[in-house]
Amino acid sequence: MAMVRLEKASKHYGDVVALREVDLSVMEGEFVTLLGPSGSGKTTMLNLIAGMLAPTSGSIHIAGKDMTQVPPNKRGLGMVFQNYALMPHMTIFENIAFPLRVRKMANDEIKKKVAAVLELVHLPHVAGRKPRELSGGQQQRISLARCIVYSPSIILMDEPLGALDKKLREQMQLELKRLHTELKITMLYVTHDQEEALTMSDRIVLLNDGQIEQMGPPDELYFKPRSVFAADFLGDSNMWDVRVESTGAQATAMLPSGHKVLAGSGNFAKAGDKVKAMIRPENITVVREGEDAGRFDNHAEGTAIDSIILGGVIKHYVKLKDDVTITAQELTRSGRRALTPGQMVRLAWRSDDTLLLPLSGKIAA
Ligand SMILES: Nc1ncnc2c1ncn2[C@@H]1O[C@H](COP(=O)(O)OP(=O)(O)O)[C@@H](O)[C@H]1O
Ligand SMILES: [Mg+2]
Repeated sequence: MAMVRLEKASKHYGDVVALREVDLSVMEGEFVTLLGPSGSGKTTMLNLIAGMLAPTSGSIHIAGKDMTQVPPNKRGLGMVFQNYALMPHMTIFENIAFPLRVRKMANDEIKKKVAAVLELVHLPHVAGRKPRELSGGQQQRISLARCIVYSPSIILMDEPLGALDKKLREQMQLELKRLHTELKITMLYVTHDQEEALTMSDRIVLLNDGQIEQMGPPDELYFKPRSVFAADFLGDSNMWDVRVESTGAQATAMLPSGHKVLAGSGNFAKAGDKVKAMIRPENITVVREGEDAGRFDNHAEGTAIDSIILGGVIKHYVKLKDDVTITAQELTRSGRRALTPGQMVRLAWRSDDTLLLPLSGKIAA
């Protein structure tokens, strides 16, 4: 069953269209991430679901009921924000107990519940402290505990880890995933960070200017983007201007220099059209001396510009005759070291990993 459903939901702020006729279903137990650049409508969408905002048109359904006119506190949702919003003068225990007291729960029951959620977020020892006596990451775990404690069926989170440094953020991402698996709560999570979205989500909803650009499991968005926007937003890509020569099960396209590129179908286009060719850097192989590149159907020669070692991976920048620069990425291992600037380099990649994309708009689903 869909726990959250938006039907043609729009939100206008005066002349600004923040959300344009969005349809979305989030299934029970799913972890769905709203991803997109700043201003794409993520917070607006979450606030429509939470009931903090009313849609200009369209409707919001929760657990099968039309909730468009229902106030936030009657929607059975939990919400976690970027600024932890803990009450500074109250102890951690009282902060977490607060939503239960509002619900007039008995004292014994409250004690049990608070102890249980403190265990769940791995902070059983901080009950007597004040929020300022905790680190940022600990405070964020407490605001999560305060949300979980009254067992909402859906948790909405708006960039909850945005204020934390990278290490802590990655730790908390795993923590949230664990809680999601343990509690089987439906989670709707907002982030502008594509790595975070790829790490955490069952499904990513990519927003672009108030509309859904593409949605699907992380690997689908990453490997099968249907637009230049999606390819650019998730991960790195080589993106070349090419002219379509033929389409079909396999397509051929041409760089300005006349270098032929074999690609996936390209069926949205016809011969003569100008399109983009997209290849992920990790799908481009640097062919070393004596290596057999026979399993690749695309080959090119160029001049090494530079290599950059990023710890576990190494990035090579290679210039083709066309003045096109290719980025290739491989795992840092012995024998896979930096290229010498100026050296000739052979590159190879598969047509299956080469996507043709329209210059604007997207390929139909
Ligand atoms: N209260 C408001 N009044 C006017 N415009 C707003 C308001 N809130 C958001 N917007 C505009 O709506 C669009 C979407 O904003 P928002 O949902 O906050 O995006 P995101 O969370 O993806 O950064 C932006 O263009 C933003 O400037
Ligand atoms: Mg926002």
